[in-house]
Amino acid sequence: MTDAQIQEVKKIKEDKIKFALKEIEGWLWEDSAWLTAFLMEIQTKNVDLSNVSGAVEFGTYKGKYLSVIYTCLQEHSEVAIGYDIFTINTQEQLKENIKKANGESDRLFCFKGDTKRLNSDDILKALGKKPRFISVDAEHTFEGVYNDLLLSLQILGDGGIVAVDDFTNVHCPGVTEGAIAFLSSTHNLKLKPFVSCCNKLFITTESHYEIYFNEIEEFLCKNPDLNVSKYHTTRSDSQNKQKLCRADIHVLSHVKGANYHMKKAGS
Ligand SMILES: C[S@@+](CC[C@H](N)C(=O)[O-])C[C@H]1O[C@@H](n2cnc3c(N)ncnc32)[C@H](O)[C@@H]1O
Repeated sequence: MTDAQIQEVKKIKEDKIKFALKEIEGWLWEDSAWLTAFLMEIQTKNVDLSNVSGAVEFGTYKGKYLSVIYTCLQEHSEVAIGYDIFTINTQEQLKENIKKANGESDRLFCFKGDTKRLNSDDILKALGKKPRFISVDAEHTFEGVYNDLLLSLQILGDGGIVAVDDFTNVHCPGVTEGAIAFLSSTHNLKLKPFVSCCNKLFITTESHYEIYFNEIEEFLCKNPDLNVSKYHTTRSDSQNKQKLCRADIHVLSHVKGANYHMKKAGS
């Protein structure tokens, strides 16, 4: 690929992500969307995509975040699976939104049901491989988050990443409690958090923890206009790096005036 072609591919990807941020109803901090795209790009160089590929989202709603993930999967024609109880929206709406943003939704498969009734074999059968990315954003309770993280542990490939939404949302203490309980539990000997960005906590397997942890500075340098990057420079290294469940993590805070893209129905 020539430099011009690489730039063109990058531009198309950026346009799709901007579309999801602006046009799809749901909840997503802009900075988390760009961090996700950055991490998924780094992943393609550090994970064997013939063994570990595709993504799962627990709790899709209308596909705002799943659309960003789907964009990142398109380059290598990877599959995405979405689980939701679909009581407030339909699977058709979800597929339609992913298609509007990405031009197609051929490799998206949706399943209706409570994630607490799912088992790991069914997910692996549906995906065909161990996923490289999982978004945990379904039931915002201790039990829901603990359950979805346990499933994630069972299915995630080495070098895979789990993003737990609303980890630092004061309105959802059960999410924080569930994630911390899981990460500290004896069930979990494999997953470590490495960065929190706005509302999301990003976790990976022990095997790739250092790779992703060390890439965060690069993300901030490459994205100086993001609110988290600007705020990061106003804080000391010891403020920006904290310990969580025995792991060092980067804390990318969101600040007053950060761009929270919440689009309501009809707006
Ligand atoms: C906060 S929304 C997800 C937002 C979405 N990830 C986005 O990017 O806009 C939570 C979703 O989880 C679904 N949900 C809630 N409890 C669930 C459960 N036990 N199993 C599966 N889905 C669930 C809801 O129907 C809702 O669509």
